[in-house]
Amino acid sequence: MKILIVNGPNINMLGIREKNIYGTETYEDLLKFCEDAAEELGVEVSFFQSNHEGAIVDAIQAAYGKADGIVINPAAYTHTSVAILDALKAVSIPTVEVHISDVSKRDDFRRISYVREYCVKTVMGKGFGGYKEAMEFLTENYGTR
Ligand code: DQA
Repeated sequence: MKILIVNGPNINMLGIREKNIYGTETYEDLLKFCEDAAEELGVEVSFFQSNHEGAIVDAIQAAYGKADGIVINPAAYTHTSVAILDALKAVSIPTVEVHISDVSKRDDFRRISYVREYCVKTVMGKGFGGYKEAMEFLTENYGTR
C-alpha cells in the first residue's frame, strides 16, 4: 500500500512554533516518526508539505492513480479550504484527517473543517501518534488496494 502524507502551512515550523501546543519535536522528527511507522506497518510512504493552498491541491491531484491512501494535516487550510476538499473528492483516494492538537478544544474557528466531509476518519490531539493511527486505519481498511 502506498500512503501519501500531506502537511499544510507552518507544519515545517514544528519545534519552533507554539511549543506549548505543538511540542518541541521538528518536522524532520515527524518524517522520521512516520517512516518508522510505515516500516512497522509494511507500507510505502511519501511526504509533501507546503505553505501554499494551490500547491497542496496540485500534490493531491498528482496522487491520482499513484497513492492508495492519504493522510492529511491541512493545518490552517482545514478551516478555510474548499479547494482542498474538492481535490480530495476529485481523486477519490481514502483520506484520514490528522491534527497534532485537539482542534475541538481551541478557538471556535478551528472547529470548522472543510475536509472532514470527505475524510473517512479524523484523528486529533494525539501529537505525532495521530499520523500513525491514521496510517494504521488506512492499512486495516484499505490495505488490499
Ligand atoms: C493543526 C491545527 C490547526 O488549527 C492549525 O492551524 C495548524 C495545525 C494541528 O495539527 O493541530 O497549523 O492542524
